Amino acid sequence: MSHRHPATISARAGIAEDTAFGAITPPLYLTSTYQLPAFGQPGPYDYSRSNNPTRDILGEALAELEGGAKAIVTNTGMSACLLALQLLTPADTLVIPHDCYGGSYRLFTNLAQKKQAFKLVIVNFQQQDWPEQIKRAAPTMIWLETPSNPLLQITDIAAVCQLAKSLTAKVVVDNTFLSPALQQPLALGADLVVHSTTKFINGHSDVIGGAVICKTQACGDELKWWANCLGLTAGAFDSYLTLRGLRTLTPRLQLQQQNTAEVVAFLQQHPLIGKVYYPGLVDHPGHQIAKRQQSGFGAMCSFELSAPPALLTTFFSNLRYFTLAQSLGGTESLICHPATMTHASMDAAAQATAGIGATLIRVSVGIESAQDLIADLALALDAVAAVQQQ
Ligand SMILES: Cc1ncc(COP(=O)(O)O)c(C=O)c1O
Repeated sequence: MSHRHPATISARAGIAEDTAFGAITPPLYLTSTYQLPAFGQPGPYDYSRSNNPTRDILGEALAELEGGAKAIVTNTGMSACLLALQLLTPADTLVIPHDCYGGSYRLFTNLAQKKQAFKLVIVNFQQQDWPEQIKRAAPTMIWLETPSNPLLQITDIAAVCQLAKSLTAKVVVDNTFLSPALQQPLALGADLVVHSTTKFINGHSDVIGGAVICKTQACGDELKWWANCLGLTAGAFDSYLTLRGLRTLTPRLQLQQQNTAEVVAFLQQHPLIGKVYYPGLVDHPGHQIAKRQQSGFGAMCSFELSAPPALLTTFFSNLRYFTLAQSLGGTESLICHPATMTHASMDAAAQATAGIGATLIRVSVGIESAQDLIADLALALDAVAAVQQQ
């Protein structure tokens, strides 16, 4: 485990290491292939699908941030998920949470049903009997997403890992919603961490990318082999941009969290807002676990609009600073309707089981002024109230 603070690791990744010209920022190596030193003599790099110096700097920073032996930088978050699943065979059982990201849910269920890639068991980690559900499943791998998307439910990573060890199951944690600046699952006992770096790690909504970070070198080597074999690795330019975004991860998140706390306080007292889902709230069922295993409550929250679904259009169309869009984790605030957007790939029954209703709204809070963000929400809610009174 690195002794360096995440803020230092991020800010210093690859800085002042250029041996050719002393460039402060690491160069962008836009090359598909590399000259051999001589016939029959391999160089450090041969082909950029296998290895690229710019991608390697990002990988080394992510491995250090998560406290892993090795990171594999992939071209999307979904390819990072697919890569981690290469550890499974058709004889193995994968346990997934009932409320994970819709795209991950689509990948798991379709690989299991259409390709028989593994056996799949869905567990509700919010039910008290989750340990019994897991023991019955006898899994090879347990997939966690905490806080979950979109309801910000919290799972006790250390408790799941302890049980997994006794069953010799591997634990994978999708750490996209917090990033290693706020949660380090490997230190809590997990074996792998998966990221959509598209989100907080890059933080500027201009790259799609992912990463898998392995606790052990052996696992890292195996997945690096698969990433090259399947062609899942990220391009140099995307890696360069992501490295640039990563430098400000800690200060961005600090500001985004501060803004989120203020937005949540506003939402909580508004008559047109029903339940607010944010792990920082003392009455959130996962608050105590979040306090223990996270170093902050994050910049995502969800809430129920206390109005008929027909008024969602009025609400969304009256917002100026919360842009209606799928993604999250950027410097700009985004808002989405999980049932028809991020979680549309779940059928109605799966959505109902996951608690995704017609008036659930998810917010990713950016770095704008909290005052402006709150005024924006207030105006949109006033517009909803005005329609209701007609
Ligand atoms: C928690 C989580 N995991 C994985 C993904 C997939 O990442 P990508 O869109 O970068 O492929 C997403 C995307 O929204 C996500 O929210």
